[in-house]
Amino acid sequence: MVYFKAWLMRICYVLLFFNTIKAIRVLGQDVTVITGNDAQLYCQVIETDEHLTSIRWQRQTKEKPSNTDFLVITSGGKQEYINGLRDEVKFTANFTQMNGSILLSNVTVLDEGIYTCIFSVFPSGPCKTEVRLTVQVPPVVSVSADVPAVSGDTDVILATCTAADAKPAAEVLWSLGVLTVLVKVQNTVTVDSEERYTVKSSLVGIATIYINQKKVQCVVTHPGLKEKLELSYTLNVHYPPQVAYINSAGIQGQTCEFQCEADANPKPTNFTWSSGDKSRLIIQLTPGSNNLFQCVVSNQYGNAVGSLYVHITPPTESKTCWTLYIITLIAGVCCFLIWKFNVPQHFREIFQSSSSDPVPTGYPGQEEA
Ligand SMILES: *[C@@H]1O[C@H](CO)[C@@H](O)[C@H](O)[C@H]1NC(C)=O
Ligand SMILES: *[C@@H]1O[C@H](CO)[C@@H](O)[C@H](O)[C@H]1NC(C)=O
Ligand SMILES: *[C@@H]1O[C@H](CO)[C@@H](O)[C@H](O)[C@H]1NC(C)=O
Ligand SMILES: *[C@@H]1O[C@H](CO)[C@@H](O)[C@H](O)[C@H]1NC(C)=O
Repeated sequence: MVYFKAWLMRICYVLLFFNTIKAIRVLGQDVTVITGNDAQLYCQVIETDEHLTSIRWQRQTKEKPSNTDFLVITSGGKQEYINGLRDEVKFTANFTQMNGSILLSNVTVLDEGIYTCIFSVFPSGPCKTEVRLTVQVPPVVSVSADVPAVSGDTDVILATCTAADAKPAAEVLWSLGVLTVLVKVQNTVTVDSEERYTVKSSLVGIATIYINQKKVQCVVTHPGLKEKLELSYTLNVHYPPQVAYINSAGIQGQTCEFQCEADANPKPTNFTWSSGDKSRLIIQLTPGSNNLFQCVVSNQYGNAVGSLYVHITPPTESKTCWTLYIITLIAGVCCFLIWKFNVPQHFREIFQSSSSDPVPTGYPGQEEA
């Protein structure tokens, strides 16, 4: 009885061993490549000593969903290309080693699909396996603002980061630093007929002067990119002139020149002084110049008004130099700009500032259009 059992087991082992040798297997391997690169489609028969007569490659793609032959390799490695893939496909393996691997060069999304290699072996007949080719397309990335954000008190789009035409969809994130609590991120994803995804990630928030010129970063990750892409972007908020500042551009002989400046985006293009339609104010350093001068600074979003009060009074003998007191009135704030300059003795006069407020109360130092 024991002998019989041992004999039976030995027969089983032999059968198992025999089966293992006889089971023809075709090995394949799915592959993922980035568009424009070459794809090695690996396919090989193992565990047979039968006679190989041909290797046939077929594929089904989105364009041609039914299995279509494109390459037949017959004994001796003779190759026949079918359906116009000659330039892209190369048989790279050794037929006698029953290796049917091919190289597909300059892969595009249209090459994505299921590839079948069929080995015709005698006497067993054909055996095959499928290899899936996945083509990745890295995104085309950009950050921009379609229209400049204009300061206001409603939410607007401040910048948009676009990771376009990627397969699969790219991941788009923002690195916002101090702006994290001030802006929101809104994403939209679209897909085209070739399954390429476009991710648009917009920064939405209230466009304030505070966030103008703040730097943000768009961070894009995609399996087709070796490393994540970081794109820096400087936010650009347009706003009207805030406060008009009046600066002295220097004293030339008996005249003094003034310039008007304002913080605005874009930079103000139009400066107009009340005395004549000029961009610069030039006054004579004589009591005859006593006046209230105003300049209007504007860009396309609005304007601001700066005021300059010049008051020169008759001389007294106690001072050794001329003193010109100028009051600029900026948005209700007074700045005292004082120039002292030596003059010949016979010109000794004293100019004094007016102590009274020369501007009517409630004067709008700053106006917005
Ligand atoms: C089959 O051929 C491919 C392409 O030449 C090669 O890379 C691969 O190593 C071969 N397989 C074996 C088992 O030799
Ligand atoms: C293919 O493989 C066989 C057997 O291993 C070898 O004799 C032959 O030289 C190889 N052919 C090529 C082109 O590498
Ligand atoms: C790869 O394919 C693209 C599009 O089909 C083509 O424009 C490009 O010239 C090809 N590159 C090479 C190296 O063949
Ligand atoms: C500059 O502003 C003044 C007053 O606001 C206006 O009359 C003039 O047309 C403007 N000039 C230009 C070139 O915009």
